Amino acid sequence: MKQKILEALRSVIDPDLQKDIVTLGMVQDLDVKEGKVSLSLILTTPACPLKKYFETQIIEKIKSIIPDAEVNVNISSKTTTVRSESIMGNIKNIVAVVSGKGGVGKSTIAVNLAVGLAQKGAKTAFMDADIHGPSAPLMFGLENIQPQIIDKDHKQIITPLEKYGTKIMSMGFFIDPDKALIWRGPMIGSAFKQIMEDTDWGELDYLVIDTPPGTGDIHLTIVQNYSLTGVVIVTTPQKIAINDAVKAINMFKDPNINVPVLGIVENMSYFIPPDAPDKKYNIFSGSGSIEEISKMYNIQILGQIPIDPQVCDEADKGRPAILDQNTNYGRELEKMVDNTVRAIAIRNASLPKTKIVEIKYH
Ligand SMILES: Nc1ncnc2c1ncn2[C@@H]1O[C@H](COP(=O)(O)OP(=O)(O)O)[C@@H](O)[C@H]1O
Ligand SMILES: [Mg+2]
Repeated sequence: MKQKILEALRSVIDPDLQKDIVTLGMVQDLDVKEGKVSLSLILTTPACPLKKYFETQIIEKIKSIIPDAEVNVNISSKTTTVRSESIMGNIKNIVAVVSGKGGVGKSTIAVNLAVGLAQKGAKTAFMDADIHGPSAPLMFGLENIQPQIIDKDHKQIITPLEKYGTKIMSMGFFIDPDKALIWRGPMIGSAFKQIMEDTDWGELDYLVIDTPPGTGDIHLTIVQNYSLTGVVIVTTPQKIAINDAVKAINMFKDPNINVPVLGIVENMSYFIPPDAPDKKYNIFSGSGSIEEISKMYNIQILGQIPIDPQVCDEADKGRPAILDQNTNYGRELEKMVDNTVRAIAIRNASLPKTKIVEIKYH
């Protein structure tokens, strides 16, 4: 009977990895006793958006063999990773959120991605690497709060702050952005590295890094020191933002850098007037070009987030917009998180570990 059930479960396919759940090793501890069938389903991440789909399919397949079976599916997860570093080795996936231009909503997307992952049960942290314009203190409502630093074996250890289930660290907690303005690139890089590596992150499924606009020193510091799962590119529909997003894509795709681009998010994609919810306006020129970029560079569109004054109001109050589940923007942000989770799972199943970039100086 067990064999028969296992055979039936082989017809449940993971649509992302395009293999069946038995071959993928997701089904374990199958037990059949007097009409009771129990098994463990091991997902590739606690944030798996296909959880319900797998469960329903499994029950259906088992009932096709034992119609009145009492089925018990114990769901757990083991987040996939390709990282194996000694530095920050307890972090399974590091994802950097980047954009070409500033002001496109990169920090908004990064904060909502981190909080969305945490809300789905993944161990998540957010690192704000934008020294000149740190966003975490405001967007998480943690202004004027400093993380604790303790001395352990003559080493300083920083305890990250925590809110909405997410661990949070920001260069803005320690460094006055006005003073940092006169810092040179290497100083910023070493401050970033120190905060990254001295923070007691614990075990993490995902660390989301919010980066400054463009592709500068911090981005190089990141890819030279940490093996990234990939980057998420954020843009708005305007040509000027998209052109800069393409530059960022080209940088990460450059053979000397070669960091996977998980996908692109179009923020401020369209506007739905609150008094006319059936209308949808593309208020920025260039709408449609994100589809062209997606095709041209073979990059998935992870989300198209509407422009809504409430997204901004909430951010100013320290509350990530994804928590507003019954809004259009809340739903779109959640889709963006689901698509990113799936893109990470596919990336981890199909590509090797990202190599640390070695820049040769002449
Ligand atoms: N979809 C949106 N709708 C309305 N306002 C937004 C949206 N996305 C971002 N904003 C607002 O736009 C401003 C810039 O966003 P931010 O995330 O700081 O951009 P970046 O990090 O790219 O500089 C912030 O005030 C933010 O609240
Ligand atoms: Mg920002």
